[in-house]
Amino acid sequence: MRLRLVISIFPLVAATLAMAAPAPAPAVSFARDVAPILRERCTGCHDGRKAKGKYRLDSFEWLRKPGGSGEAPVVPGDPVKSPLHRLLLAADPDDRMPKDADPLPAAQIERIGRWIREGAAFDGPDPKASLDSLRGPTVHPVPPSRYPRPVPVAGLAFRPGGAEIASGGYHEVLVHDAVRGTLSRRITNIAERVAALAWSPDGARLAVAGGTPGRDGEVVLVDAAGGTNRAVLASSGDLFLAVAFAPGGGRLLAGGTDNAVSCFDVATGKRAWFLAHHADWVTGIAWNAAGDRFATSSRDRTARVCDGTTGEAVASFTEHGAAVLCVAFAPDGKQAWTGGRDARLRAWDAANSDTRQNLDGFDADVSRVAMVDGRVVAGAANGRIRRFAASDPKETATLCGSGSPITALAVDEASKAFAVGTHDGRVRIWKPDAAEPSIEFPTAP
Ligand code: HEC
Repeated sequence: MRLRLVISIFPLVAATLAMAAPAPAPAVSFARDVAPILRERCTGCHDGRKAKGKYRLDSFEWLRKPGGSGEAPVVPGDPVKSPLHRLLLAADPDDRMPKDADPLPAAQIERIGRWIREGAAFDGPDPKASLDSLRGPTVHPVPPSRYPRPVPVAGLAFRPGGAEIASGGYHEVLVHDAVRGTLSRRITNIAERVAALAWSPDGARLAVAGGTPGRDGEVVLVDAAGGTNRAVLASSGDLFLAVAFAPGGGRLLAGGTDNAVSCFDVATGKRAWFLAHHADWVTGIAWNAAGDRFATSSRDRTARVCDGTTGEAVASFTEHGAAVLCVAFAPDGKQAWTGGRDARLRAWDAANSDTRQNLDGFDADVSRVAMVDGRVVAGAANGRIRRFAASDPKETATLCGSGSPITALAVDEASKAFAVGTHDGRVRIWKPDAAEPSIEFPTAP
């Protein structure tokens, strides 16, 4: 396999460094590329329990049988004559599939179209088997023992208690000792890029969101101690970008290029709900301390506050006027902080969306924000890191960065320290009042 180290994790620093020219796109696989999309977006209405339009697609055999229209859903070689593809593109939302939902992302429609054009072949073990059974255990490539070059740190999380810090690597999660900066262990069998990480409140598990842009996406729960125990909560055709455990750790939220927020029950791994909250990528998710509200940020230029139980939106903030790249939520749930491509950090009222603070001076995309101990820390794409009291944002300290774009930020509730990850593959950890980082280390093995 050719090793391609993809250095950009975050949309704002979307640059890809290929170590070799990309290979021509491989043929589309039904089991690997198409079935996950159908499972995610279609079988809810078209399986043995609900066969809307008298049509089922919960197995390959069913998928090929006409429904109420009597028309063959798939004409191998001809996506235009295939209702299964045509209905994804229908201009009239009443006709379009998935019904009553946002259309599939263009990359997924293109993938299904290409699969049909390439002959609509079945490459699983049994065409009668349910699409669920095609899932199989995903096995990701083994990461290189030593990286030829650094990988941007996207996804960064302290172990509760602060002794360790996890960061995203290339097809792995790297766990470092947070005091010494030494590599403690490598958790492998992870998607190519890690876009976001969260450590469960009991310290036992890590939630990992990531994937390969335009190809696959995954939200997995892995054993933080490095065991092989692994649960795939969601898989799709494109990146997941955000994960957040609810306080208490019973539920996990995830979102990304599906423009949606999914809520999973951590014990069973089952999805409790899925809400297509945004018109573009979900870039960040943050909970309040009580777990009755969460906030989301999105590339659709808005941010939202939602009910922690049902997921329904209760407030929407539209003042950025540009992609919103990150969100932090005050522990009391009264105020959310969002940063965006407008180079501003804004604080707004979680009940009525009124702007409370409007901070500029970043001179670049505000890529990450977090709250710790009554303070707000924000990082920008020009490497600038600013820290200030949430109650009086004018008291600003600008901390020394390396100039490399800030791609990740994590806080340690125990010691009130915070850590910043950068595009050049380094992590710096600051003690609460320090002007200089207490430790700095490269994450790459
Ligand atoms: C919310 C329910 C719902 C979802 C989700 C949904 N469908 Fe449908 N589908 C319907 C209904 C209802 C019909 C019947 C026609 C109509 O009302 O437009 C239908 C009809 C169809 C048909 C025509 C079958 C025939 O022969 O008449 C196809 C093909 C189809 N859907 C494919 C899909 C695909 C592919 C997805 C996922 C991308 C999807 N549907 C998701 C509700 C749904």
